[in-house]
Amino acid sequence: MLSDLCGIIGIVVANKNTQYSPGTMVYRGLLRLEYRGYDSAGVASICDNKLVVLKGKGRIIDLERKLGFSKICGSTVIGHTRWATHGAPSDINAHPHTDCSNRFAVVHNGIIQNYLDLKKSLISKGHVFRSDTDTEVVAHLVEDYYNVLNSVYDSFKQAVKLLEGSYALLLISIHEPDKIFFAKKDSPLIIGLGNGFNVLASDIPALLEYTKRIITVRDGWIGYISGNSVYIEDFDGNIIDWSKYVRIINWSIGDAVKAGYPHYMLKEIHEQPRALKDTFYGVSKDENIARVVDLILDAEKVFITGAGTSFHASYYFALASNILAGVMVYPFIASEFESYAPVVSDRDLLIVVSQSGETMDALKALRAFKERGAKIVAVSNVVDSAIPRESDIAIYTRAGPEIGVAATKTFTTQTLALAWVAVALARSSGRIGEGEVREYFDILGNASKLASETISITEYAAKRLSEWLHRVNSAYYLSRWIGVPVAMEGALKLKEIAYIHAESYPAGESKHGPIALVEEDFPVIFVVPNNEEVEKLLLGNIKEMKARGAVIIGVAPEESSLIDEMDYVFTVPRTHWLLTPITHTPPQQLLAYYTAVRKGYDPDKPRNLAKTVTVE
Ligand code: AGP
Repeated sequence: MLSDLCGIIGIVVANKNTQYSPGTMVYRGLLRLEYRGYDSAGVASICDNKLVVLKGKGRIIDLERKLGFSKICGSTVIGHTRWATHGAPSDINAHPHTDCSNRFAVVHNGIIQNYLDLKKSLISKGHVFRSDTDTEVVAHLVEDYYNVLNSVYDSFKQAVKLLEGSYALLLISIHEPDKIFFAKKDSPLIIGLGNGFNVLASDIPALLEYTKRIITVRDGWIGYISGNSVYIEDFDGNIIDWSKYVRIINWSIGDAVKAGYPHYMLKEIHEQPRALKDTFYGVSKDENIARVVDLILDAEKVFITGAGTSFHASYYFALASNILAGVMVYPFIASEFESYAPVVSDRDLLIVVSQSGETMDALKALRAFKERGAKIVAVSNVVDSAIPRESDIAIYTRAGPEIGVAATKTFTTQTLALAWVAVALARSSGRIGEGEVREYFDILGNASKLASETISITEYAAKRLSEWLHRVNSAYYLSRWIGVPVAMEGALKLKEIAYIHAESYPAGESKHGPIALVEEDFPVIFVVPNNEEVEKLLLGNIKEMKARGAVIIGVAPEESSLIDEMDYVFTVPRTHWLLTPITHTPPQQLLAYYTAVRKGYDPDKPRNLAKTVTVE
């Protein structure tokens, strides 16, 4: 199992006069981590020199009733919530994970990229694995080293040295029952300094009710906490004077869950670089991609569908497949499935895109096509949700839970996952060779960095432009070619959170009617993909709009010849057209967000909308 997006917490109590027992403190901390989304949870502790592990699939409150998390004995307790992003949730795959001899227990958030090699070598040494998670290798590695080094910390350090990937790790051992060992690289980890106890957790909400004195653990730090001490060194063995890093957090719990952002939506816009990194790692290693490509090439007709933002991602894939792979894919809006079902046979394929995996319109389209014998592929962000469950194959994004009603990181991660499918399809359809596949791997692998760059260079401009845009009543979002679904997504954002009418259509259509609407100061947003031919055509569309007094707002690659024609420009990194959603969507998300806030609305809870539409 790879790249679970998890919550971890660990507490060591030196004296028993804390308000709650260590078990209760961890249980309450896990409840605070629920917002991160999860499907299984577990705790581990050391009692009378024995490791006790309680874990399972399901909600924390139910696991408490069934297993008694809060009543677990011992003064050193670790806990975990698992958001499975690859492979079904199950009791055995829940964390904590232990070694063969039940002397070490570990919880982990992140991705151990080389776990298969490590696992093979440990199995060859006789280690017996119980789960198919990447995390379990850590417990066996530490056990293996301990049998030689006879020191938990030295064994832990040696084990961590072998890990490649991202991790926030907590480990306990019967050999040092009053310590929690930790190591951090890429995944978040916080230390909370208490009176008579210390805490480790993935993020602040989990520990805020116990202490406001925290240390943000840096990448490459490793060490351990006891009930009244903290020891940290870096991966080179240099001891860290952690007292320099202590901060006092004056957030409310509510603020903490938003990590200090005013709204989940803004937090999730800023989470896109991480979500894209996790998603690309996951899909580029996912053996299901080849099976999906075979299904597409074997099919007589290939359809793709979704609702709302997921339809925009579907439309993007249809264009990318046509353009890059030369394979025709028919996109349609999920609620319109009756218009397509009559031509469907058992030789056809339907791809259903749905971040929640629960959208009724998409589920009904799936069932209608399945009834006619079509094969079904799901693209979802939630493992084991209804749509993946009813599909033949599922591909997962790894955006983590999206709490804001407006889709943001789930759209860009959907398009990145689908871009990789389009590349694999182009290779199998003979359009590109292995060399080009490697180039595309590097191009798409850059998505996280490009998103980060785009967000940082356009956020202030978006906030400034919202000062003007919040007054308009209507806007056009226009583009051509691969930019059209990206413009449609931008328009949807402005509609659903700023309640401003925004219409999106291919720019070439303007003269066939829509331009009649344009008058002085009418805002027209142009999404300009990186394609010279398209830029030339869009120049004409911009001029016709300017001639009628429109205000031209552009999202354009740096050095685009169109920039001089625009009144406001979000200049984004120039990159391969396949990454247009990655570079051109964040400015539109930010523009809609700041416009909604400027109008005094709550972007997280737009009126009349639900995060998942489970009714038809
Ligand atoms: C997009 O911002 C909206 N939240 C909505 O259109 C959403 O994309 C649509 O309801 C589909 O949801 P799904 O991806 O969970 O199927």
